[in-house]
Amino acid sequence: MGTGPSPLISLRHVGKSFANGAVRALDDVSFDVRPGEFVSLVGPSGCGKTTLLRLINGLIEPDEGSVEVMGVRPRPGPDLAMVFQSARLLPWRTITGNIEFALALRGHPKPEQLRRSKALLAAVGLRDFAEAFPHQLSGGMQQRVGLARALAVEPKVLLMDEPFAALDAMTREVLRGELLQMWSRRRMAIVFVTHDIDEAVLLSQRIVLLRPRPGRIDEIVDVDLPEPRWEADPRLLPAFAALRAHLWDRIQTMGRSGLELDELARAFPDGDV
Ligand SMILES: Nc1ncnc2c1ncn2[C@@H]1O[C@H](COP(=O)(O)OP(=O)(O)O)[C@@H](O)[C@H]1O
Ligand SMILES: [Mg+2]
Repeated sequence: MGTGPSPLISLRHVGKSFANGAVRALDDVSFDVRPGEFVSLVGPSGCGKTTLLRLINGLIEPDEGSVEVMGVRPRPGPDLAMVFQSARLLPWRTITGNIEFALALRGHPKPEQLRRSKALLAAVGLRDFAEAFPHQLSGGMQQRVGLARALAVEPKVLLMDEPFAALDAMTREVLRGELLQMWSRRRMAIVFVTHDIDEAVLLSQRIVLLRPRPGRIDEIVDVDLPEPRWEADPRLLPAFAALRAHLWDRIQTMGRSGLELDELARAFPDGDV
């Protein structure tokens, strides 16, 4: 896999099946994520993106092959944080309370919880909502809280599963910029799942393109676009258009099966379709 710094995350020949082997979710998947790198996993619904995130954070284990984070089998802990499509906040706790709870679970003492939740809420522009409850916030604001909660533990790896998919276009655009700025300041590694090609090209340094049934790597693509990308919009560059066209081309070769699964996923956004 070349030279350079040793990988933070390393997957080797990973295979995973569900339903007693009836569903081959992943087959012979190998890739690395380097420290501080922003990698997107892209592909039609059912190609195993969420399964890959669950393998990386140690929620499930591979049937074949190996998954390592910092050289060992991943286990839930402060090195890994996850952000989902909806923030999944505790409705009976304030915004501050939600972040403090995540920190308490990881053994941080009370003053530290307060200090960190204050700093993070300021960083995501929610200082004035510290004592609000989740239902008083818009979807975009709730996602900001989810991001703040994930970053509060200062993870080395941030795993994001279609974090902006449920937001309106304008909010999505704003949060993408904020995420990039946050990433450039903190430089944790990000593994970002999306089925939005433009979003993947816009945000990431590398794209792992997957194809479904069984979930396999189609291609790993380097995204050589100028940084920082929230300042000059790379979507106006010919290189962006070329990359986007290439990825769409690859996806066309995947045929109808992927698109049908996509319809199902839209009908059951939270289900394992
Ligand atoms: N817990 C599960 N039980 C049964 N099948 C599952 C489970 N999790 C995922 N799958 C199946 O594995 C495949 C990959 O799923 P998933 O990782 O959710 O794909 P993606 O996130 O790319 O849409 C799909 O066919 C899905 O139905
Ligand atoms: Mg998924």
